[in-house]
Amino acid sequence: MTNDERPPVLIGEERIRARVGELAAEISRDFAGAEGLLVVGVLRGAFIFLADLVRRITVPLAVDFVATSHYGSGTAASGHVSLLADVRCDLAGRPVLLVEDILDTGHTLEFLQRHFRGRGPSRLRTCALVRKPARLRAGVTADYVGFEIPDVWVVGYGLDCDERWRGLPYIGVAPKAAP
Ligand code: IMP
Ligand code: MG
Repeated sequence: MTNDERPPVLIGEERIRARVGELAAEISRDFAGAEGLLVVGVLRGAFIFLADLVRRITVPLAVDFVATSHYGSGTAASGHVSLLADVRCDLAGRPVLLVEDILDTGHTLEFLQRHFRGRGPSRLRTCALVRKPARLRAGVTADYVGFEIPDVWVVGYGLDCDERWRGLPYIGVAPKAAP
């Protein structure tokens, strides 16, 4: 693949739009009547997904972000996840929806669930745009999942490969193999 070539489409814009609508409807039903819903996005990969999702959730909500990093070059393969930036809101007694881009090995989600549970939210639910079942650790899952995908490196719709292709409007397959 040359530099100018766009990654081939795995999940097109229309499918994403439809699925985000379904997820938002499900989340809106589940959180109906909830007071003070806080939607927390995991930077940076989840920013476009979160932006589309919150515009279609009908429950009043606030938005905050966390940022995580993984030690070493292999993405989360080592399982060492650290927090680069934390939410600014108090989570105690609030319903929280954590929004991730990808569930790959699941280390990031496990880490964040532990982190957030310690803050005493009244409810903690998790949402991931895509999941790679082939790589996911046993017992780790999200409450809401957009798409299951094969073990390929995906880019676009917020996801990157060394910071490239985040702005693609669809989810495509990058040439880089998953670590
Ligand atoms: P996990 O901790 O292994 O579940 O890794 C999750 C993080 O790795 C995601 O939040 C992404 O930032 C990144 N990641 C894993 N797979 C991909 C991919 O295919 N494309 C882009 N980022 C990915
Ligand atoms: Mg991420």
